[in-house]
Amino acid sequence: MKIGKKMITEEQIEKRVTELAEELNNYYGDREVIVIGILKGCFVFMADLVKRLTCDARVYFMEISSYKLGTVSCGKITIKKDLDVDIEGKDVLIAEDIIDSGNTLSQLTELLKKRNPKSIRVCALLSKPARREVEFEADYTGFEIEDKFIIGYGLDCGERFRQLPYIAEVEIYDE
Ligand code: IMP
Ligand code: MG
Repeated sequence: MKIGKKMITEEQIEKRVTELAEELNNYYGDREVIVIGILKGCFVFMADLVKRLTCDARVYFMEISSYKLGTVSCGKITIKKDLDVDIEGKDVLIAEDIIDSGNTLSQLTELLKKRNPKSIRVCALLSKPARREVEFEADYTGFEIEDKFIIGYGLDCGERFRQLPYIAEVEIYDE
């Protein structure tokens, strides 16, 4: 496994994250916002995003995993790490690295809605619309990309390559 073709450069990411933050700043102003990062893939994006927010941001994390039946994902999520804050009556913003099948975010937003927040919005750096199994679109999306497995800027392949400052395709070959 090695780093393949570069897909999105550091400069392109920085420009787009700044634009996303501007949109969020226009929407939230100086309101209190519970910003929830979905571990682990969000951590680089989340850091770059919150640095640019003007709202009264409170940073929290959740960790989610998808149930597997053998090797086949049946799409049902489990919470590996839950929130340690009550979101009732609060404005919630979820920061996610990438939307693929849509299973994680469609189920997570339904689950969080039951906790009666004032609002829930989703900001995803990346989206692969061709891979959707359930209908789900983020309120804010950084880049729509084609159906390629990618690494870098927080995204991993077998826990490797999260540290790359850019986004690249992964080259998988038998060693
Ligand atoms: P889904 O939308 O529920 O299918 O899952 C999205 C999650 O799958 C993301 O949060 C990532 O952790 C992971 N994922 C999906 N596509 C990729 C990719 O191309 N590279 C790395 N992780 C990915
Ligand atoms: Mg993830």
